[in-house]
Amino acid sequence: MSSDHDVVVPVALAGRAYDILIGEGLIARAGAIVAERIGTRRAAIVTDANVGPLYLETLARSLAEAGIEAVPVTVAPGEGSKSFAVLQDVVDALLAARLERGDIVVALGGGVVGDLAGFAAGIVRRGMRFVQVPTSLLAQVDSSVGGKTGINTRHGKNLVGVFHQPALVLSDTAALDSLPRREFAAGYAEVVKYGLIDRPDFFDWLERHRDEIFAGGEARLSAVAESCRCKAAVVERDEFETGDRALLNLGHTFGHALEAATGYDPARLVHGEAVAIGLVMAHRFSARMNLASHDDAGRVEAHLRAAGLPVSPAAIPGLPGADGLMEFIAQDKKVSRGALTFILTRGIGRAFVARDVPGSAVRSFLEESSAP
Ligand SMILES: NC(=O)c1ccc[n+]([C@@H]2O[C@H](COP(=O)([O-])OP(=O)(O)OC[C@H]3O[C@@H](n4cnc5c(N)ncnc54)[C@H](O)[C@@H]3O)[C@@H](O)[C@H]2O)c1
Ligand SMILES: [Zn+2]
Repeated sequence: MSSDHDVVVPVALAGRAYDILIGEGLIARAGAIVAERIGTRRAAIVTDANVGPLYLETLARSLAEAGIEAVPVTVAPGEGSKSFAVLQDVVDALLAARLERGDIVVALGGGVVGDLAGFAAGIVRRGMRFVQVPTSLLAQVDSSVGGKTGINTRHGKNLVGVFHQPALVLSDTAALDSLPRREFAAGYAEVVKYGLIDRPDFFDWLERHRDEIFAGGEARLSAVAESCRCKAAVVERDEFETGDRALLNLGHTFGHALEAATGYDPARLVHGEAVAIGLVMAHRFSARMNLASHDDAGRVEAHLRAAGLPVSPAAIPGLPGADGLMEFIAQDKKVSRGALTFILTRGIGRAFVARDVPGSAVRSFLEESSAP
């Protein structure tokens, strides 16, 4: 049963509309909700070896009580599981379980499990129905919303995949209690991003409620729900990223360069930490281009720092200098005639897509940022 306290965020995509339910204890209540909304008798639950021991039994029992038999498929935790090899294992397991097209694949875990299981669901039998049960903050506010799925290749991250919208998303905010604090903070950078894109009122609210959000309860639930509304609104405008969806990359151009420069080593930097630094850099760079004020950049920096996130490239030991970072930026982007597309801002909540940012301006900004 869904409870009165669950928040429902509809994602209105023509022909593929679905709901995101956000609430405490949803994993233990998932069976009745899935039975009522999806109506199937068989499922696979894809999870990883960190999340499985914590929540798999609760989820499987809840499904069983609703008459849904579930086959577990457990992969190793971490980005390494977004590979062709692990995709093949998952696809094999779904076929070995003799799941039919109308049966469901449930992704129980963080963004890695969601992207991998979603991709498998998208290609097995030309597309199986798929339910997201995200358990990391990043997955609840970002990767489970919008239907992008996929894996990494040696040519780069997320280069192979499909758009495959879930039939339902169940975000249990109490499951975040077991998430390591560092991972929680990393997901929080994406929450802050939504305020900075076009919701200055949300950013104000985050400034007042940050500690409560980290603690859990009502404020956390509200932050997750509002983030889902923000992302859903962007995805509804531009499902296949031909325009506005690019705004979701605020902070990500600098962020991706920092991740690449640290060899995607999570011991040095996780994605959300790179985004935190990238958000501050995007605001500082916009100020330097006389688009926004340094006061706004200072506000963003203070907020992220207080959340325990790194806010400057200087926080990462052993980074390459401006030239090295420039190369990673060029790899991440199509550089056309020395100009780059960046998400810049006119102030808090006023981000926009800037299509011809001179590479030379970025380079001198990086030189200043990496100077001691
Ligand atoms: N599809 C999209 O639109 C989209 C958007 C953003 C990011 N992503 C992808 O998401 C991935 C990152 O997601 P992530 O940060 O969730 O990483 P993740 O899935 O690796 O999870 C982070 C860590 O937390 C653990 N974990 C997850 N939930 C937990 C819980 N409740 N308790 C204890 N431990 C828990 C995981 O086992 C893992 O070790 C990347 O691969 C990224 O490319 C996809
Ligand atoms: Zn991100």
